[in-house]
Amino acid sequence: ISLKQYNTFGIDAKARYFCEITSLAELREALELEGYPEKFILSGGSNMLITKDISALVLYIHIKGIFVEKEDENHVVLKVMAGENWHEMVLWTLDHNYGGLENLSLIPGFTGTAPIQNIGAYGVELKDCFVSCQAMDVDTLELKTFSKEDCQFGYRDSFFKNEGKGKYIITSVNFRLTKKDHQLNTSYGAIETEMEQQQVLNPTIKDVSNAVVAIRKSKLPDPKELGNSGSFFKNPVLTKNEFELFIKHNPEAHYYKVSDQEYKVPAGWLIEQSGFKGKRFGDAGVHKNQALVLVNYGNASGKEIIELAQTIQKKVWDKFQIEIIPEVNIIK
Ligand code: EPU
Repeated sequence: ISLKQYNTFGIDAKARYFCEITSLAELREALELEGYPEKFILSGGSNMLITKDISALVLYIHIKGIFVEKEDENHVVLKVMAGENWHEMVLWTLDHNYGGLENLSLIPGFTGTAPIQNIGAYGVELKDCFVSCQAMDVDTLELKTFSKEDCQFGYRDSFFKNEGKGKYIITSVNFRLTKKDHQLNTSYGAIETEMEQQQVLNPTIKDVSNAVVAIRKSKLPDPKELGNSGSFFKNPVLTKNEFELFIKHNPEAHYYKVSDQEYKVPAGWLIEQSGFKGKRFGDAGVHKNQALVLVNYGNASGKEIIELAQTIQKKVWDKFQIEIIPEVNIIK
């Protein structure tokens, strides 16, 4: 079957074998199937770039369910199954007045893969509400619980991208959310501006979510209309020395201080300064409102997108001597 509908980049790669998984029992059964040595795990398909047809057995993880595990007067712990659409789940939490995930509104993809890269936006990361996740060991088929510590979360990074890569399939995620006295995080400049424009005085979690949705809609292309995987590159982190040299030559650059020794420079700014914003090369291009997002105008192949990414990397390196690294998972 074509995987075009199953990856937000809209790459028309073919899968030879495809199996939709809706329960843990089905997942075990599929992993035990003989004659398919290789399995390819597919979730929301929102952080991958497929560059070839897939000959492995594709397991589309579509296990649904949201359960209240624990609650007291102030907090609730939710268990969300891996195949729940992230944004729909966030809306569900807001409908129940559970706070914590509002800044992560409108992020594409499913809940089960959100911990892999510790999704983050507008001042909040998944790890801030994360309690634990369950994952199936692909060899022993046992379910294992990973605490927040086990997950070793970093900026767009976790255990599942490193030592745990390819060894586990996350089946559910537990979040701890507030039921009252919500801790709003509106420090991100764009949220403040949006709130002012909307004249929101005492924001609720729903107001924060609405602001985030408005900001994302204005900057990021809707994958249903224009294929993309959100930010294609990570924002590079420079050491203090590297940063001082950089800012001396580029005093107008935008940046965030991560710690006394580390500074993050927005890759979108570097790419825009390198002249790529809004440029189109065949069906591959760089989004007009956010240079960090590569887009597929229709029939771009994974290879064309990669070629564009490499051209950008080289130009950014030549201009700034900064290496930018893809954050999307490239399937070679
Ligand atoms: N910028 C430019 N030109 C551009 C894009 C950005 O100059 O074309 C500048 C902006 O002016 C701003 C700065 O870069 O000063 C930051 O831009 P923005 O707020 O759009 O955020 P970002 O650093 O480019 C990161 C995440 C996004 C997340 C936003 C908001 C990464 C790789 N990306 O982007 O995540 O939504 O912050 O928190 O960290 C994603 O991972 O798919 C994603 C969209």
